[in-house]
Amino acid sequence: MLKIDHKEHIFHLSNQLISYVIQVIDNHFIVNRYFGKQIPFFAGSNSLDSNHHAFSVYTDDDQFCSTNLPLESSLMGSGDYRITSGQITDNQQKNIPYFKYQNFDTQNNIPEELPHLTNLENATFLNINMIDGLTKTELILHYVLLNNLPDIIRWTSIKNKGKSSIDIKRLASLQLDLHDPIGKIMTFNGSHANEFVPSFSKIMNGIQEVSSNSGASGPQHQPFVAIVDNNISLNNGRYYAANLIWSGNFSAKVEKDQYQHLRLMIGLNDCDFNWQLNSNEGFTTPQAVITYGKNGLNGIAINFQKLYDKYLISSRIQKPLIAINTWETSYFELNEQECKKLAKTAASVGANLFVIDDGWFENRNSEHGQLGDWKVDPNKFPDGLLLISNYVHRFGLKFGLWIEPEMITENSNLFRNHPDWVLMNPNREKERSRNQLVLDLSQKKVQNYLIKIISNLIIDNQIDYLKWDFNRHLVPLESQINSYKDTSYLYIKGLYHILSTLRKEFHNLIIENCSSGGGRLDPGMLFYTDETWISDLTDSVARLRILSNQLSLYPLKITSSHLSVSPNEQDGRILPLRTRLELTGLGNLGLELNLNSLSKNELRQIKEFIVKFKQQYLLRHNAYVYNLLPLRKRNGEAIALLMKYDNDFLLIYSYGLGSAVHQPIYLPLYYLNSHEVYSVNNKVISGAELNEAGLTLPPTKRDFEVKTVLIKQVNKNELTGRY
Ligand code: GLA
Repeated sequence: MLKIDHKEHIFHLSNQLISYVIQVIDNHFIVNRYFGKQIPFFAGSNSLDSNHHAFSVYTDDDQFCSTNLPLESSLMGSGDYRITSGQITDNQQKNIPYFKYQNFDTQNNIPEELPHLTNLENATFLNINMIDGLTKTELILHYVLLNNLPDIIRWTSIKNKGKSSIDIKRLASLQLDLHDPIGKIMTFNGSHANEFVPSFSKIMNGIQEVSSNSGASGPQHQPFVAIVDNNISLNNGRYYAANLIWSGNFSAKVEKDQYQHLRLMIGLNDCDFNWQLNSNEGFTTPQAVITYGKNGLNGIAINFQKLYDKYLISSRIQKPLIAINTWETSYFELNEQECKKLAKTAASVGANLFVIDDGWFENRNSEHGQLGDWKVDPNKFPDGLLLISNYVHRFGLKFGLWIEPEMITENSNLFRNHPDWVLMNPNREKERSRNQLVLDLSQKKVQNYLIKIISNLIIDNQIDYLKWDFNRHLVPLESQINSYKDTSYLYIKGLYHILSTLRKEFHNLIIENCSSGGGRLDPGMLFYTDETWISDLTDSVARLRILSNQLSLYPLKITSSHLSVSPNEQDGRILPLRTRLELTGLGNLGLELNLNSLSKNELRQIKEFIVKFKQQYLLRHNAYVYNLLPLRKRNGEAIALLMKYDNDFLLIYSYGLGSAVHQPIYLPLYYLNSHEVYSVNNKVISGAELNEAGLTLPPTKRDFEVKTVLIKQVNKNELTGRY
């Protein structure tokens, strides 16, 4: 709902959960008056400071000054000395310091060419339109309030209606000023094979930032930042949490200013960025989402899981999709006979997707091989891939293929024919990573080439599924064709264009997002893909740590995890098959080991587990998930996840390392319906009791023991006596 006080220029966006109030002051300051729990109407009890304090800056007409107002947008050169959401210069390179308020409208002008929230029929839209009279540039602040979640979607756009060009040097999607100096900063950081490590840090005076300048969102930091209560727990505590729907360079900052007020900002990274906007052109930032709540870390998690599940992801995986993947099965040593044997055995245990990973194409026997030509290797597949595709289809499996289309090596024909299609400075030495270079997706020609070559691969080989990999980041971010400083932005838009074209063209094609695991896992990629290989670490215990933290932002259904051998090939951990299966069977289950070298008994266990996974699919794939034990930084500590689908729950817990202290854990389940009753191990127990008294998890003497408990709601009317 949007309530407007036309006299005071107050805009009050509210649903049943939150209120977001902004006001236009002195005709150019867009001020945040309130963001928090829903209030029925806004009367202005928290009046603004109109004193002109020392060092404050104001123009003749201003009662207020930019130095201390809680501003929704502010520009370099305006006298707001805090981090500003924008820096825009005229054709003389002079800053445009502020824009004048013009009017507002409530149109839905979602940027379709960028990843965006959808299903917004019941949402409320507000656009604040501003103008710079001198250059005739328009600046628009966009707001969308969802009708049933505590989220505001924010982005900014600019239109150049003047005759000369202007330069956008920085333009964030969201700036939020809080006069509520709560606690600490929360972010997720990590590295390859160690994604999603939570971090809580003290808010210092000055600016703190997590960012990416690698051309991709990266495993190092999620495009996410939250300000949370100092004593936030899983179930309690306030938060303001923001996430950027973008897969490239980003910056998320928090500043504590001279008056201990906080500014939170998220958007494109301005490092190495400059966008020249010519007359009659427009520019739109990615969308950012901000949520407010009081119900602790699980509040953040459930909000984002629901938000992205309902409004962002349009996954084509609607039924259990159980992959057998050749990577850890045989790495580059692929051949037709082995693939056929593997597919046959996989089908016999219940898999329904056969994926040939890296190594299927010419001159690719190691990481030193070739990338770019995508021609099947006749030594490995003398009869081509279509033969394998037909073969696996006959067994009822879908056919999937690994591809890393954004990459190129110098020994490819593609490089020989189009050296100028590569990101590099031809006058300097090449900067390789994993022996490869990156195609310049900012070029239309390159985008068209990739669409064509991938489409042909799909059609010629009847491909149902692509594992889309991206194993290095972007340096130098220099296009050989264009000399501008916005290659990174154009690259990501080029990638989005390719993905959305393929999705439109091939309605049933499923795409797995991968970047050496979770190296480009972000809401932007969630929009264009169906699942994500969240880490290269296939040790199921360590992966559970990553997954349990990923759930703070992204739903379970985007995750793919594969059963691998023990000892694990990355960290050497030895785990029983049952443990590996239980922990892998969360999200999208797959197999990545040579099934033909397993015993009959092991194959039977896998088959039985796949039957169980299919039976429990809604709880193991579609569920929203609560962490019942604190977020983990390290592997090997106890984890308990409570999965909820509809009225039923599945508790899965892993003890981590065994201990000689044999004390049970008492685990209140918190999130069941206190007014309902449930069946647990054939016993009827009230939700209230399970929430408060909890379940006792018996002590274990073994490392990494895993238990699951199914908690099904019981119809109270069918019970006699107690209820
Ligand atoms: C990346 C992926 C792996 C595998 C290899 C193949 O590392 O994350 O799963 O596909 O590439 O080279």
